[in-house]
Amino acid sequence: RKPLIPYEEIGAEKLSELIDRFYAKVAVHPDLYPIFPEDLTETARKQKQFQTQFLGGPNLYTEEHGHPMMRARHMPFPITPTRAKAWLACMAEAMDEVGLEGKLRDIYYQRLVMTANHMVNRSEEDG
Ligand code: HEM
Repeated sequence: RKPLIPYEEIGAEKLSELIDRFYAKVAVHPDLYPIFPEDLTETARKQKQFQTQFLGGPNLYTEEHGHPMMRARHMPFPITPTRAKAWLACMAEAMDEVGLEGKLRDIYYQRLVMTANHMVNRSEEDG
């Protein structure tokens, strides 16, 4: 039987690998690296906590950092539509690399598309 919780279906190990591969791409993406810290260790650690709860696992992010308020937390960073597309492209490539496929990937990716679009807080001109 298939677990109904995406976090359980993916597993902690694969999720961690996904996020590590994602930030390896962010670190060299011309549209993204300028707005990120040089050392992404702590960013990746927080993202693993966040994705764990985003996918229905334990609320690791909230336990350590409080309410996610993701849009508010992103306000200091200029997130243009181009950067949202770049962020999603890095995630799609990372998903390919860890072999995340099928319906689970589609559902997860679509949720990320909605969240990424929600995070856009600057026009292309102001970014
Ligand atoms: C933090 C950019 C979308 C989750 C950050 C940071 C930047 C950033 C620059 C700060 C990194 C740091 O100082 O450590 C972007 C861009 C996005 C995007 C350009 C494009 C739309 C998303 C999405 C999610 C997300 C879709 C969740 C599904 C997070 C989390 C953090 C974070 C959990 C850490 C927050 C914290 O400091 O506690 N993001 N982000 N981001 N982002 Fe994003």
